[in-house]
Amino acid sequence: MKKRIVLLAAVAVAWTGSASAQTKDANAEFEKFRAEMEESNPAELFEVKGEELWKAKRGPKKVSLADSCDLGQGVGKIEGAYVKAPRYFADADAVMDIERRIVWCMTEKQGFKFEDIAKKPFQGANDNNAPDITNLVTYVASGSRNMEFDMPMHDAKVRDAFETGKAMAAYRAGPYDFSCNTCHGADGKRIRMQNLPNLSSPEGALRGVLGWPGYRMTGGVMLTSQWRMNDCFRQQRFPEPKYASQAVTNLIAYMTGNANGQMYKGPGIKR
Ligand code: HEC
Repeated sequence: MKKRIVLLAAVAVAWTGSASAQTKDANAEFEKFRAEMEESNPAELFEVKGEELWKAKRGPKKVSLADSCDLGQGVGKIEGAYVKAPRYFADADAVMDIERRIVWCMTEKQGFKFEDIAKKPFQGANDNNAPDITNLVTYVASGSRNMEFDMPMHDAKVRDAFETGKAMAAYRAGPYDFSCNTCHGADGKRIRMQNLPNLSSPEGALRGVLGWPGYRMTGGVMLTSQWRMNDCFRQQRFPEPKYASQAVTNLIAYMTGNANGQMYKGPGIKR
């Protein structure tokens, strides 16, 4: 009997040992591939489209975002806008992440209808093109490449969004009683081959916001942080949040605040 237990234990150790070695190898391989891909990141194509959209006179009001949209750094300015958001915008009386702010500019300044933008805000696996909003976010994010995250935590309203996001990440509900932290609240968790970042630590939070918007090799699509949040609501078996909602801004504020002071490398590549 004792011998059998020892044998079983040895098998178990050998098995978990090789499984984690396999995962390590796969991760190392992916990292190598990602580094190579980053040299010629397809995200750049979306940046170029986004720049054209940013400068074009569009919408019922025929104005450009370059001439009308203030992302917090002055009208039309994109430098540093992505790493300095979410932030408070007095004209909208709301804390907004960049995607939500661009949607606000498209509706308020250019006259687009929110419902039309919200109909299909993310690129699907069978779509040839990314929606305009994704291209715009990618362009704006490129204006913060190699700048440090600098979300204005000293602003009480931003801090409030951060604290609400933090509480949301810990909130358990749904059929499995999951919270974000069930999957992302401790170091070293993984699902299948994917390492899940611990969003409460500076390193994990950085991983949560780095590389978004990102070109996803699975499906070959360009996706934003807003999409990532939606997909994790789905993983959590929660109803999908309304597009560009305050709830999503709060979660992004929570992660960005935790990542503050660390370097953003621009639109990235995801598996
Ligand atoms: C059931 C487990 C689960 C839950 C619950 C969950 N996620 Fe995720 N999350 C994942 C998986 C799986 C990935 C994909 C990892 C990958 O592709 O490398 C992921 C990826 C992410 C990423 C991107 C990480 C990166 O490397 O780019 C962020 C950010 C994130 N989740 C945030 C959240 C937030 C916020 C919540 C709560 C609303 C949440 N997640 C809930 C499983 C979960």
